[in-house]
Amino acid sequence: MLRKGVILAGGTGSRLNPLTRVTNKHLLPVGPEPMIFHPIRTLVEAGITELLIVLGGESVGDFVRLLGDGSEFGLSILYYAHQARPDGIAGALRLAERFINGEPFVVMLGDNVVDSSIRPYLERFAESPERARILLKKVPHPERFGVAVIRDGTLVEILEKPAPPPSDLAVTGIYMYPGDVFPIVRNLKPSGRGELEITDVNNHYLHAGRLDYDIFPGTWTDAGTFPSLRSAAETAWKVAEARRDKEKKEPI
Ligand code: G1P
Repeated sequence: MLRKGVILAGGTGSRLNPLTRVTNKHLLPVGPEPMIFHPIRTLVEAGITELLIVLGGESVGDFVRLLGDGSEFGLSILYYAHQARPDGIAGALRLAERFINGEPFVVMLGDNVVDSSIRPYLERFAESPERARILLKKVPHPERFGVAVIRDGTLVEILEKPAPPPSDLAVTGIYMYPGDVFPIVRNLKPSGRGELEITDVNNHYLHAGRLDYDIFPGTWTDAGTFPSLRSAAETAWKVAEARRDKEKKEPI
């Protein structure tokens, strides 16, 4: 089973100004907990025990005080890396190379919230760890995301924030990569918005015939805009209540 995970929690959170004027987006409340708790809990539930969080901005000390060594979440290892300049999701991923050390791993964006387990997809990925794997989700406004182009039932391309969107299938911020992702990331060129795009990494695997996908059946949202922050909070409250009910039934 997969043991290593990376959470990317950099970026400026500019779409949530003024909430992010004096703190990092991933420390904002989402339901009863800070945003960053959600990807951590999701990965730990899926079997991840060794985690690297890539941070940006000036709140590094706050993260360390909040999360400590990760044992509260059941992690055996929690490392932190700092992304000095926000140069995109793939830019942040570069900082994970030494931690990953050639092993297959899962990446989750720090502002993604799901209502159900991602363990089945990690298990499928672990069966062919030389292939990358992404999770797609049908959404009402795909133009805000990476979008899958499906032709004759086959995924042929991923477009970043296309208008108009070629399908209603967004690429979620949950990615599974073989250990050889880092040379690909190192060769990326900045996109029109000046960032190293994770979509370019996924297209690289796709064009090499090494990308699989699942369509996530549960609720998925990011939390980088005001409407999505609000739906993330609603989902997070439901997840927290379900966990509380379960703990009442099976006291730990
Ligand atoms: C990023 C990715 C996009 C993906 C989304 C998922 O977008 O670039 O492909 O669909 O995360 O949350 P961003 O949040 O940087 O706009």
